[in-house]
Amino acid sequence: MPQTIAVLDFGSQFTQVIARRIRECQVYSKIYHYATPAAQLKADGVTGIIFSGGPQSVYGKQAPHPDLAVFDLGVPILGICYGLQLMGHFLGGKVAKGERREYGHGTLEIVGKSRLFKGLPKKLKVWNSHGDKLVKLPDGFHTVARTENSEFAAIENTERRFYALQFHPEVFHSERGLDVIRNYLIGICGCKGDWSTANFIERKIEEIRETVGKSRVILGLSGGVDSSVAAALIHKAIGKQLTCVFVDNGLLRKGEREYVVGLYKRNFKIDLRVSDSVDLFLKRLKGVSEPEQKRKIIGRTFIEVFEKSLKSIGHADFLAQGTLYPDVIESVTIGNNPASLIKSHHNVGGLPERMKLKLLEPLRELFKDEVRAVGAALGLPREVVWRQPFPGPGLGVRVIGEIKPEQLEILRNADAILQEEMMKSDWYWKVWQSFCVFLPVKSVGVIGDERNYAYVIAVRVVESIDAMTADWTRLPYDLLQTISNRITNEVRGVSRVVLDISSKPPATIEWE
Ligand code: XMP
Repeated sequence: MPQTIAVLDFGSQFTQVIARRIRECQVYSKIYHYATPAAQLKADGVTGIIFSGGPQSVYGKQAPHPDLAVFDLGVPILGICYGLQLMGHFLGGKVAKGERREYGHGTLEIVGKSRLFKGLPKKLKVWNSHGDKLVKLPDGFHTVARTENSEFAAIENTERRFYALQFHPEVFHSERGLDVIRNYLIGICGCKGDWSTANFIERKIEEIRETVGKSRVILGLSGGVDSSVAAALIHKAIGKQLTCVFVDNGLLRKGEREYVVGLYKRNFKIDLRVSDSVDLFLKRLKGVSEPEQKRKIIGRTFIEVFEKSLKSIGHADFLAQGTLYPDVIESVTIGNNPASLIKSHHNVGGLPERMKLKLLEPLRELFKDEVRAVGAALGLPREVVWRQPFPGPGLGVRVIGEIKPEQLEILRNADAILQEEMMKSDWYWKVWQSFCVFLPVKSVGVIGDERNYAYVIAVRVVESIDAMTADWTRLPYDLLQTISNRITNEVRGVSRVVLDISSKPPATIEWE
């Protein structure tokens, strides 16, 4: 394992951001439950610990507390926000209810010499969000920075290597916050900063070879970023021992199947089997218009088809998946629901157990941006590495109501024009998703002197960070005009193009 910094999660909305910032400093980070036993952290050989912030008061009934033995591990600890209050509370200081909540920007004034602020100016804009505040220093600590509202904005006990910040260095609004984190990692914990894409690939290749031995590995390739990078990485490690299965469910974008075959089979020389299941999917979807039912049918049929393909390939021992770190992080919920929640990511749910396949998930340590970097280093083209997300049920949830082959054809043609124009103008790379939706509504238009009574295509282009919220993108009018003109002129069966200007919430990104 690389040198690891443990981030103890006390329920902050920024826990993942902290873990990512650490990776940006080329140091490996891992998120742990706040109550992880110190013995476990010791066994894992962590180089340093960070306490995340959290929404609770240290005095709260359900306040999350760490295993106090972590203070005796002898490794450096950095407390952020609630983490600072924990140190105050448990190490001989005093935390009191703040008279007013400090929220938003503040000015940090550095008043002492500290390794945390090495190379930084004496005044920094920082971002705060806390109610309680420290009113008495814990034993052996001294102040190194203050804000207008707090004389203990940064404190430290250099002998024990305990550091704490009242503000959030991990958020973008905190000036030079990344430098503060880097100072902690490199200057205080002594991290080498050698966590890199190249090292990761090298280490993983060895690991995959060791785990797999001479066995066969099967991977469901969707063409999306995660499964594509997993395929390229595993292929580099074990070559012909990997077989990929690509299911054509008839709900793919225009040219998608040919693109995937061309890239992986011809270019990468991966053993790729295409399951042509177009008729089966469309037959099962015939007459079905309720979105949830459509999704269920598509999901069930996918598993069935995939399972059948596996059987025809012959014996395999491993099922590879492009599971990422955010899929496996145990999210801590504190408050009304004390139970921890573990998200599991099985896009071919039930299969591994039934077919006695072991899971191979080589990307499960990585965040999305790291996966893209690995993909690029493995030689995957920009179109794949920076691909927009595409839903599993594909165009099935973009043809509103019942799915008919001629409607899919119209949607595919319209969508291809949209993608082409988005790429040509470079907007494709700047947005979260851009796609067309087929509306089974007819409207009147004219072509030449002829009345054209035909369907409507909606254009949906959104910006988002994580798909939880989204805003519609203000594309330039000229670009919208080109897209609309081309679709109405070039796609038979369309008389009108409309633009979706709904945000999420209350709308969702997809229409169904
Ligand atoms: P919504 O429509 O819920 O979409 O705002 C959020 C994000 O998830 C994608 N999406 C899906 N992805 N299977 C998937 O793999 C699905 O059933 C599915 N439904 C929505 C959607 O494209 C967007 O990025």
